[in-house]
Amino acid sequence: MDKIVIEGENRLEGRVRINGAKNAALPIMAACILLDGPSRIKGIPDIIDIQTQSEILRNLGGGVKKTEDGTIEIIFRDGENDDKFTAPYELVRKMRASICVLGPLLSKRRRAKVSYPGGCVIGQRPIDLHIKGLAALGAQIETTEGYINASVDKLKGTHISFAGKTVLGTCNVLTAAVLAEGITTIEYAACEPEVQDLAHFLNKAGAKITGIGENKLTVEGVQKLHGVDYEIIPDRIEAGTIMIAGAITRGDIVLENARLEHLSAIIDKLREIGVEITPSGNNTLRVKGNGAYHAVDLMTLPYPGMPTDMQAQFMALLCIAEGKSIITEKIFPDRFIHAAELRRMGADIRVDGPSAIIRGIPFLSGTEVMVSDLRAGAGLVLAGLVAKGTTQIHRIYHLDRGYERLAERLSVLGATIKRISE
Ligand code: EPZ
Repeated sequence: MDKIVIEGENRLEGRVRINGAKNAALPIMAACILLDGPSRIKGIPDIIDIQTQSEILRNLGGGVKKTEDGTIEIIFRDGENDDKFTAPYELVRKMRASICVLGPLLSKRRRAKVSYPGGCVIGQRPIDLHIKGLAALGAQIETTEGYINASVDKLKGTHISFAGKTVLGTCNVLTAAVLAEGITTIEYAACEPEVQDLAHFLNKAGAKITGIGENKLTVEGVQKLHGVDYEIIPDRIEAGTIMIAGAITRGDIVLENARLEHLSAIIDKLREIGVEITPSGNNTLRVKGNGAYHAVDLMTLPYPGMPTDMQAQFMALLCIAEGKSIITEKIFPDRFIHAAELRRMGADIRVDGPSAIIRGIPFLSGTEVMVSDLRAGAGLVLAGLVAKGTTQIHRIYHLDRGYERLAERLSVLGATIKRISE
């Protein structure tokens, strides 16, 4: 197992290009099951979750080939591999997002057997809304022996109103509806840019989806979808994480391939804290840190609100912002394991139910910490960048799931950061 070792207090400077979005790539790759013929998807990050998704698709009979320049070619053909409809426990346990093959399998192969993903360290993570949505389209679904077993003769368009916003639940219903007979309306659909990207991808492949980015999606079922060339959106969470790396080290960095319209909540909050952010056109923005940051209150919410996937990173920054900040986690109320690790670095954080109360201190101190999940890991790396002394971060395989060569890229910006085999 590798660990990351950081000598803190180095100012970051330079330019960095943001990779394609993991959470757009994963459902888009799964949606290729629906297409007849090859697709080439550009901007795929080189991370473990993409490898896991590729394995799941190969297991389902897909041809999946990654090229050096971050393009992935995926091919499924109508009528081939109809007897393959299982996403097994060995693969699903590695990555909860593998649940997003459920909708495409049900639509295309009329059967799906997907290992029940279970809870995870960030919270309960039920899938009741996925199941209700697919059942409304006509699927028979039962859970036996740890698997979701779904089958259908013919999916039929209907009106679905989600009882809560769910990103992957919306993706599953959307992918099930595009080839269903008739019209499906999805009320209270998730509007996250990654869901929008999936819808744009499907439309390019021949689907008829309207209302993209709004609360209500309308899907007119079509007979067939074809392979396409597509480029996925930049990763707004990677962009946000690197923006905070610039801010927390009082650095001066320029992000390229950052979509401003997806970053509004993050930019607004960073400015409120005291970070200077200057967009300079062409998806480029400059982040300039300064010496005095102030406490803010922050609440994670569905898009366009503050993403829960940025909560740990903001917490790291607020540890050194003067005054009392309150973070309220509205999406995953238990997603605070990183708070205990930040406390080991000297942070003053008290978790009270779905809220964390942070009192800013002048500096964090390097020590040994452990990563519990992907974004918690990002928060700890950011804390290590500003801490006095050496921070050793263990269990960094979580980071490899979602950030492409994070340590290397931060090192290029001037961080003293190394990856070491333990
Ligand atoms: C997606 O997970 C992301 N994953 C998560 O990113 C992200 O944190 C989350 O959306 C919220 O933005 C991918 O896109 C691969 P949800 P998802 O269903 O879709 C409740 C990362 O680090 N809910 O939108 O699984 C649920 O408990 C990961 O990249 C139900 O009650 O999340 C939560 O409170 C971590 N029933 C809320 O909805 C359901 O059936 C939102 O969860 C489904 C969800």
